[in-house]
Amino acid sequence: MKRLPIGILGSGKGSNCRAILERIRSGDLAAEARVVISDVLDAPILEIAREFSVANAYLPPGQFRTRLEPQAEEEVVRMLRDAGVHLVVLAGFMRVLHAPMLRAFPQRIINIHPSLLPKYPGLEAWKQALTAGETVTGCTVHYIDEKVDHGQIIARREVAILPHDTAESLHARIQIAEHELYPVAIGGFCEKYAASSA
Ligand code: GAR
Repeated sequence: MKRLPIGILGSGKGSNCRAILERIRSGDLAAEARVVISDVLDAPILEIAREFSVANAYLPPGQFRTRLEPQAEEEVVRMLRDAGVHLVVLAGFMRVLHAPMLRAFPQRIINIHPSLLPKYPGLEAWKQALTAGETVTGCTVHYIDEKVDHGQIIARREVAILPHDTAESLHARIQIAEHELYPVAIGGFCEKYAASSA
């Protein structure tokens, strides 16, 4: 069975990365994690990559706060290509990607976001939903484009907001949903890849 070569980009604690690597290890996901890249030197996601014996790298992001410097973005493209990555998986990667990545991996970069997009893009989406008085929120897997948390939706999962929810309790439940939804969504790509001649 052909395994889909993926590259994972993240900036933080890496719980989605862990969920994906666990599904690969258990054989539930016909993918192969070729590399994990982070723009944060001491991000736990890099430690998780090492725990699963996946190649990993810190990428200095440059001077901007919300995007990579163009040379840094070209460097990510190079690293992903060198690793033979077919699908780029953003797992808590907190920078907006631009032309170099979008041109290099058209319709092959996906993201997970903790809201039912198109509602509540941006930071701490679960807090936005709670503050707005929603009774339901959730998470979304989508293709990326140049806008923040925007692009064609692949899959969504609803999470109920309970009367006594705090930001923390709600985010924790959304993350449980994320850890189920993301591997399932990636599984769809694995099936198409296995059936293709790529
Ligand atoms: C996840 O909740 C993900 O949806 C969110 O960052 C968290 C990363 O957690 N991403 C965004 O908000 C993207 N706009 P993790 O590092 O434990 O996977």
